[in-house]
Amino acid sequence: MSEKSPCILIAGGAGYIGSHAVLDLKSSGYQPVIVDNFSRGNKDIAELTGAECEEGELSDCAFLKKVIKKYNPDAVMHFAAWTYVGESVSQPERYYNNNVVATLNLLSTMRELGVGKFIFSSTAATYGLPEAIPIPEDAVQAPINPYGSSKLMVERILSDFNAAYGLQYTIFRYFNAAGASSNALIGERHDPETHLIPLALSAAAKGTPFKVFGTDYPTQDGTCIRDYVHVDDIARAHVLGLQRLEAGEEKGIYNIGTGSGYSVLEVINTIEKVTGLKVPYEVADRRAGDPPELIAKAERISKDLKWHARHSGLEEIISTAWAWHRKDWDLT
Ligand code: UFG
Repeated sequence: MSEKSPCILIAGGAGYIGSHAVLDLKSSGYQPVIVDNFSRGNKDIAELTGAECEEGELSDCAFLKKVIKKYNPDAVMHFAAWTYVGESVSQPERYYNNNVVATLNLLSTMRELGVGKFIFSSTAATYGLPEAIPIPEDAVQAPINPYGSSKLMVERILSDFNAAYGLQYTIFRYFNAAGASSNALIGERHDPETHLIPLALSAAAKGTPFKVFGTDYPTQDGTCIRDYVHVDDIARAHVLGLQRLEAGEEKGIYNIGTGSGYSVLEVINTIEKVTGLKVPYEVADRRAGDPPELIAKAERISKDLKWHARHSGLEEIISTAWAWHRKDWDLT
């Protein structure tokens, strides 16, 4: 007799990281069901994953109840959030509504209907300006923008829901997600795009303008350093986190990072090497709110979840991103 695959609801499964998690869950024997309002996620990417999809708002209790009753999920993974730091500064109300209020609504509905496992996408932005590099999970969390604050608020809510209602949860604090699925099926597509790798690839391929934001940081070449993690490695962490909750873990908080970083100029050099194209760029002022260096201490995730970054070498990240963007941008 074959057992039914456990169903996992994937809020924001049409987005960049969520869609890669959907693929990994499918190949790991789960039945992921995407819940998305497509405000920032991509319908065609959701379809490419082959997962079932329910369109609606996380702020809509009736919709959520209907979906949870229909699928009876064992767990929810929550990727649906707005993630633009600058926008969060100019429109904090929208960020707190979308990232906190809608998430609380989701958690309340889960509690009402007895769904007891939750995996949450948090961020290195909750650390603000870190006191030391690499950043351990127990570093001070003092976000410097509403985006980071909104994620930290949900972290606090999860801790309180665990204490009061026994909600099992995993929090993943992402560093810099990058790359695309190895077969170029799905990849990164934001509108507007603000991230370094897609913008620099676009400059190389299409000649779109590209600015290096600041060359006067206290780093070896003056540009910011980030810890880039392949999106497939991030997806894997979610499956391992889920399995740990299934094995009875009550709560876990993990950085997802590699423990090493690259500067903006190193990324540009690697793009030139991988693509064989020049990245035309100009030097511009610093972008507000960019910390000089963000690198994860990544020991807890490797010890507890046996997670290791397998695809996060910078060349592999850039080659997979390049293969996807060539296809997505229809370049020959
Ligand atoms: N950068 C440039 N030029 C660009 C874009 C980026 O020089 O056109 C630089 C940035 O200044 C930064 C580095 O490239 O030093 C990486 O920038 P990204 O925008 O790719 O990534 P961030 O580190 O700013 O963003 C990450 C996540 C966001 C999250 C943010 C919170 O990707 O989703 O951390 O700190 F909101």
